[in-house]
Amino acid sequence: MKDIKRHITRGSSIFIYCKKRLQEKITEWNKYFRNGEIDVVPYYAMKCNPKEFIIRDLIEGGIRNFDCASINEIKIVNKFLNLTNNNNNNNKEEDKIIFAQPCKEVGHIQKSMTFGVNLYTFDCVEELEKINKYNSKARVVLRLAVDDSNSICQFSKKYGIKPEKDNIDRILGEMSKMKKKNNKIDFAGVSFHVGSGCLSAYQYVNAIKDCYNVLEIAEKKYKYKPKIIDIGGGFNNTYPIQEISEKVIETVNKMNIRDKYRYIAEPGRYLVENCADLYTKINTVKYDRINRLCNIYITNGTYQDLNCVIYDHIKPDIILYDMNKNIELHTIKCINKQENENNENKENKKNNKIKMNVWGPTCDSMDKVGEYYIEEEYIEMMKDENIIIKFKNMGAYTMAAGCSFNGYDKARIVL
Ligand SMILES: Cc1ncc(COP(=O)(O)O)c(C=O)c1O
Repeated sequence: MKDIKRHITRGSSIFIYCKKRLQEKITEWNKYFRNGEIDVVPYYAMKCNPKEFIIRDLIEGGIRNFDCASINEIKIVNKFLNLTNNNNNNNKEEDKIIFAQPCKEVGHIQKSMTFGVNLYTFDCVEELEKINKYNSKARVVLRLAVDDSNSICQFSKKYGIKPEKDNIDRILGEMSKMKKKNNKIDFAGVSFHVGSGCLSAYQYVNAIKDCYNVLEIAEKKYKYKPKIIDIGGGFNNTYPIQEISEKVIETVNKMNIRDKYRYIAEPGRYLVENCADLYTKINTVKYDRINRLCNIYITNGTYQDLNCVIYDHIKPDIILYDMNKNIELHTIKCINKQENENNENKENKKNNKIKMNVWGPTCDSMDKVGEYYIEEEYIEMMKDENIIIKFKNMGAYTMAAGCSFNGYDKARIVL
């Protein structure tokens, strides 16, 4: 047990990292996705948390492959895997990296080659032309826009080609023409992302069916021999991974394509979400007894590590934490805005709870962490300096972004 009090008094807010939790997630992935029934190789999505201690521990836990979206992410991986000497060129089965940003900067493509990166995603002819122009050894994966309506963060409106026959025919036709001209670019397979925070296994099922339709056209009409189905990210610790695994296995078995293709995935959130908790101090507690409204101001907000509230649509629950006793006192659920007037909130009002806004430290009123209902007794408690706030499972899309706007630092990470 880390001494929270000692660590937090040295800074405004801290992350407490737990390597064991990271390792448990790798083990769980292997149990559900790398077993006798299927082998889905995880390419860790660097964007989710690119800190070097995370990469080091993932590698120690057996992760060997990475989804990078920029040259800087590739450079981080290179520090650990020495891609330049041990590059992928000779072994097509073992791409260490998939450059899975469908719209890449030219300079990043050029530089990626010096790290032996040759596997790229694309979703339009323009990108294909660019990749073909700059990397003569490129192998490309076509990113499909799939149903992501049951996911918290949706990507299909930004990336991916709709898997309609005409679209696919057109783009594969263009690729074929390019190949005839210079015999360079090779078609490696298809990918999709069902959206981050996916809440339905059927999105994977339908997306795999979409992939197969595309692969059939590629094989039958254009005589390609694509090998990869990349099932992307979206896995999380709310929706059971076991269910996704079962549905994926059932689907590939039914379609009789389990052994025909190599399966890879790009999990981010799932692997790192649970490995860090965030602790913040409470600067000020304002309680308006007459209007029954409480506003509290804490030492980390949407400009720092709680940027996930804005970008990742997170509604974080808070835990009142006694750092003298090192114990959790009370959990308060964040109000989901869409359900603002639902039964739960009516119930809160009826139970005489007080509405509470939790604000970040900057002077911007955008810097709001969430809305809550709290019992009056806890309001006094929060004025005690030894009572701090804990946000559980904050390893994903938190420390990866954010800044020190207004002079408020991001959380110190305690390993
Ligand atoms: C291309 C790609 N792959 C993988 C991921 C990781 O997704 P998740 O964290 O939901 O696993 C993302 C997230 O933005 C992504 O854009």
